[in-house]
Amino acid sequence: MNCSIRGAITADSNTREDILLNTRQLLKEMIELNEVKIENIVSILFTATKDLDAAYPAVAARELGIVDAALMCAQEMFVEGSLKMCIRVQMDVQTDKKQSEMRFVYLKNAEVLRPDKVKKQKKIAVAIDGPAGSGKSTLAKELAADFGFIYVDTGAMYRSIGYKCIDNGISTDDVKKVSELARNINMEICYIDGRQRIFVDGIDISDEIRTQQVADAASAVAKMQDVRKTLVKLQREIAKNNNVIMDGRDIGTNVLPDAEIKVYLDADVSERAKRRCGELAEKGIEHDFYKVLDEIMARDKQDKERRFNPLTVAEDAVIIDTTNMRASMVKDAVAELINEALL
Ligand code: DC
Repeated sequence: MNCSIRGAITADSNTREDILLNTRQLLKEMIELNEVKIENIVSILFTATKDLDAAYPAVAARELGIVDAALMCAQEMFVEGSLKMCIRVQMDVQTDKKQSEMRFVYLKNAEVLRPDKVKKQKKIAVAIDGPAGSGKSTLAKELAADFGFIYVDTGAMYRSIGYKCIDNGISTDDVKKVSELARNINMEICYIDGRQRIFVDGIDISDEIRTQQVADAASAVAKMQDVRKTLVKLQREIAKNNNVIMDGRDIGTNVLPDAEIKVYLDADVSERAKRRCGELAEKGIEHDFYKVLDEIMARDKQDKERRFNPLTVAEDAVIIDTTNMRASMVKDAVAELINEALL
């Protein structure tokens, strides 16, 4: 059957960037909260107050990959004293659920429109740090799915900068050029069907950043203070408005020092190399164990010995050595910590 999901958000300024950024955030939250599949969106009606005319909010839907749904934008009439710079959305979706089960989303100043529909719950941040191959992303992804939190893979952000350097022929030793690239990059993290996708300059590069060449470039650019500042700002912004499980190298020590839960995952380097070889084999990619081992050791060294925010264990982190643990055991242990924090 067809059901309608309503939502609204306010923009901070009448600029194209701000209108699209906020509309994307609203759409993403409506989609996630209601577990909507992109292909099941039938149509979306957008309205914006008269003070927002720098962009059509509907463009944000296309940017999120909503390509088949009918989109329409309309301008609202001006009413003295009404909410300023407001974007409203009505999304019609095909679903097995009933209309009464649909959850509406009111964000930022738009919360005043329907305070009864604003979900207020204890906000939790989970920081997961550790070296490459320690099992961070598997753990973080599964926990995020179980608890309905947003998974933020910060490594993907450093990888995107590394990828752009390679793509633009910029040397990862050139601090000035790489810092400039990081400052000007248009990076967008989206959650489509619960999976993190990373868009750079409007293009989804989530799969392209998974090569060894990009991993090495990421580790090199991650040494740069300006690059880190830019990305950390974005990471904190995501955590400000959402329950997050964030993985990386400096989450508990630097990005989210007040995270309710901090976990440091570790594993023997040869075990980590073995896991990496397993992943490569699964993808049918030819590999050599000793070469993989060397690459991981070089990356460990670079990540642990760099000057700015190196990989270290936060004082209040729970350390889990996953060398001889099954992924499900690790997950159960951290899930228990989250359940305690949610009480
Ligand atoms: O987790 P990963 O392999 O995708 O990370 C790629 C590189 O990015 C890693 O070698 C170090 C860097 N990184 C970082 O410095 N800080 C983070 N929070 C995440 C990743």
